[in-house]
Amino acid sequence: MSAPKSLFDLTDRIALVTGGSRGLGKVMARAFAEHGADVMICSRKESEIKAAAADVADGLERRVEWAVSDLADAGEAEILAEEVKRRLERVDILVNNAGTNLPQPIDEVDDEKWATMMELNLTSAMRLTRALVPAMKEQRWGRVIHVSSVLGLGGKEGRNGYCASKAGIIGLARASALDLGPFGITVNCIAPGPFLTDLPGRLLSDEQKQRFAERTALGRWGHPEEIAGPALLLASEAGSYITGSVLSVDGGCLIRVL
Ligand SMILES: NC(=O)c1ccc[n+]([C@@H]2O[C@H](COP(=O)([O-])OP(=O)(O)OC[C@H]3O[C@@H](n4cnc5c(N)ncnc54)[C@H](OP(=O)(O)O)[C@@H]3O)[C@@H](O)[C@H]2O)c1
Repeated sequence: MSAPKSLFDLTDRIALVTGGSRGLGKVMARAFAEHGADVMICSRKESEIKAAAADVADGLERRVEWAVSDLADAGEAEILAEEVKRRLERVDILVNNAGTNLPQPIDEVDDEKWATMMELNLTSAMRLTRALVPAMKEQRWGRVIHVSSVLGLGGKEGRNGYCASKAGIIGLARASALDLGPFGITVNCIAPGPFLTDLPGRLLSDEQKQRFAERTALGRWGHPEEIAGPALLLASEAGSYITGSVLSVDGGCLIRVL
């Protein structure tokens, strides 16, 4: 491995970003490729993930692979892990980003929706980490980044499964940071606040979107591109002494208590 050119350089690194067909995942995948990494992205829809891989690779001399994978299905994470190893040999930077929010009040929780959120938002992240860290341990370098949410640190009406899964992944990051620290592997969470992607776009009315913006210190929604810097920090040498942390990227929305 050649010496990094800058603190944020990812030359010769290999990254897997789940849910990379759009939104925050696609931005992170592009940022990694721009900084020298080969990347694999996955999502459920072949046409979208294929087009996204072309966008991520556009103008760069990097290898960008794509895979169709439904990580809400138990067993898919292991298949994906084998596929990425087959194509790119190993993963140095794992970003567990794929996630969904299926709102339901506590007295109306549907077991199937609950199970989907747990499997996709939490369990698949554990499964991928479990499958991919042995190679990181061997080379004594690795980065695991879980995408949690400000709703992993706080709560919101009706977001029971989402809040539980996003808080759960913070616990997973803390414990596994201790397991993996001795091997030079950092494990962290990014907790995004309101970013105007398909996910909140689908769930919120215009009035709710306006209210979310007003809750932040900056008075606006995040642009998906604003996740690139925080992801690069945690993926590169720049973040070498950060582990077990939750990096809120939320325009300051967690500051406000009343
Ligand atoms: N946007 C926000 O305001 C916000 C705030 C806090 C946290 N987050 C978190 O940030 C992450 C990314 O969110 P986003 O806003 O970028 O969402 P998004 O625009 O809806 O993108 C989600 C990505 O995940 C993929 N995905 C969804 N279900 C999947 C499944 N079962 N298996 C594999 N891939 C799947 C989607 O592709 P397909 O649907 O085609 O599979 C897509 O590539 C999520 O974990 C979310 O909870 C977002």
